[in-house]
Amino acid sequence: MDKQLEKLYQDQIKNEWYSAYLYLSMAAYFESINLEGFAHWMYKQAGEEQEHGKKMFQFLIDRGIKVVLQAIPQPPADFASAVEVFEKSLEHEQKVTALINGIADMADKCNDRPSKVFIQWFITEQVEEEKNASRILDLLKKIPANSAGIFQLDHQLSKRE
Ligand SMILES: [Fe+2]
Ligand SMILES: [Fe+2]
Repeated sequence: MDKQLEKLYQDQIKNEWYSAYLYLSMAAYFESINLEGFAHWMYKQAGEEQEHGKKMFQFLIDRGIKVVLQAIPQPPADFASAVEVFEKSLEHEQKVTALINGIADMADKCNDRPSKVFIQWFITEQVEEEKNASRILDLLKKIPANSAGIFQLDHQLSKRE
């Protein structure tokens, strides 16, 4: 595999684990304000991000490349509100989408065929990721603070499989 392309994957493994860390930090915030359904949603999200990281980890191994894990930056711990959490989530997913697109561009440039196929799954996944964050953000913006609506949404989010 081209060295520049490999570097993007090595970095993205860390970025996916950072995503998991960020969502775990958001879960901790929701636990601290007793919104357990929101926290549950964030635990599930964090688990998915670890799976993304592992998928890339395995792909490099399958290509005969040694994975070198990088330090995971500290995520933010303080959030002002549920709205702010989902604003940050959406913003984060948009950044990740740009990173994934960057890998896809490099895979094209290097004409690395397995990589071109592999990265498609992540491109599709990012559409889902942005959609999920923006839908919840949209709902939250419509709910007055400390109203029953927030508990209804909390209940709904507690159902995430
Ligand atoms: Fe991800
Ligand atoms: Fe994500």
